[in-house]
Parts: sequence; C-alpha cells; structure tokens
Amino acid sequence: MKFFLDTGNVEEIKRIVRLGLVDGVTTNPSLIAKEGRDFKEVIKEITSIVDGPVSAEVISTKGEEMLKEAEEIVKWAPNVVIKLPMTEDGLYACHELTKRGIKTNVTLIFTAAQGLMAAKAGATYISPFVGRLDDIGVEGMKLIRDLRTIIDNYNMPTEIIVASVRSIAHVEQAAIAGGHIATIPGSLVPTLWKHPLTDNGIARFLKDWESVPKK
Ligand code: E4P
Repeated sequence: MKFFLDTGNVEEIKRIVRLGLVDGVTTNPSLIAKEGRDFKEVIKEITSIVDGPVSAEVISTKGEEMLKEAEEIVKWAPNVVIKLPMTEDGLYACHELTKRGIKTNVTLIFTAAQGLMAAKAGATYISPFVGRLDDIGVEGMKLIRDLRTIIDNYNMPTEIIVASVRSIAHVEQAAIAGGHIATIPGSLVPTLWKHPLTDNGIARFLKDWESVPKK
C-alpha cells in the first residue's frame, strides 16, 4: 500500500519524507486554510519536496470554471493532481481533464456508486472518506472493500485513496481491505511506528546494559 500525507504542512512532510514513507500528498481547502499561506506557494513547495503526486483541489463548482482553475494549477508543477468534487460538474471536469492527459482525484466519495461513476469518468484516483462515514454510523471500511471489488471486477486503472483516516486501526484496515493508498494526517503518522512496549523494551535493554562489564 502506498502512503500519502494528508496535510498542507511542509514541516510535517519534511519530517516523514526523510523516513522514505511518503509516496504522495493530498491537500484540501480546509488543510490549506490551516496553514495561513498562499495556496500556490504551498503547493509549489510541497511538489518540490515530494516526487509523487500532490493533490490540489479546485474551489469552483461549475465545470468550465473547474477546467480553468485546473489548467492554471497544472502549470505549477509536473506532479500536481487536480482534485475535483464528486458532483455532475466534477465528473464533467474529470472526463475533460482525463482527455487532456491531466491526472485527477475525485473527492468526497461516500458510496460505491459515486466511486464507480468517478472511475468511469476516468479518475486517476478516487477518495472515499472512511472517517466521515464512521462519524454518521456507517462502516467506512465496507466502502473500501466494495470499491476494490468493483475496480478489480473490471480491471479499472483508477486507484483508491482511503481518505478521512483518523486512527492506526483505519490505516491497518485500509491495507487489509485493499485500498491502493491511504492518505494519512501528518500528525497521525508518528503514532504508527510507536508502541509503549517498544519504549519500555528499549528502556529495559539500556538499564540491563549498564550491568554489562566494560573493559
Ligand atoms: C483527503 O483527501 C481528504 O480531504 C481528507 O482525508 C479529509 O479528512 P477529514 O474528514 O478528516 O477532514
């Protein structure tokens, strides 16, 4: 499974890139707003740090406007991916951009039917939101399993980005369910390599080491 970082924070990205754990980055308007910086400046900086795909989301709601925004954003870096909302206009923009050879990520997917529509429209990536489904009492991970089955049934080239990831269990379950990618908040990633028994084990080894005779 590939790991994307779900953040607009350059320091978080730099910290985790040095561990070889970053295959790409996703952003959204809320994450960009948290940084209090210019959108273009943030995306250009991230694309210069990360080799893989970096999703930048359009804010227009009309198809033609989305296309204009996308054509501007793709000039910023070769590894930028256009994130589009799961609407009729978003599907139109996805289809047009695909014809132009521009990579897309259709976001805010909450049903298998939405994911199938986006894949049919040519989306490079689809982003089903597991956390927000769990929030309303619907099992988010079932959507990942269903989408993976659909994509495999028809050998579709679209990749599933498991999004709205909130916990270690989400990351583990995303891998078991066959999500091609999990996009993980930068703040969650360090919890993935930590365990109290690991820390206790290190402390005990170091303590015992003190009793080893030193020449
Ligand atoms: C990523 O593409 C999504 O925008 C993000 O994972 C949404 O996460 P949230 O539901 O925690 O805001």
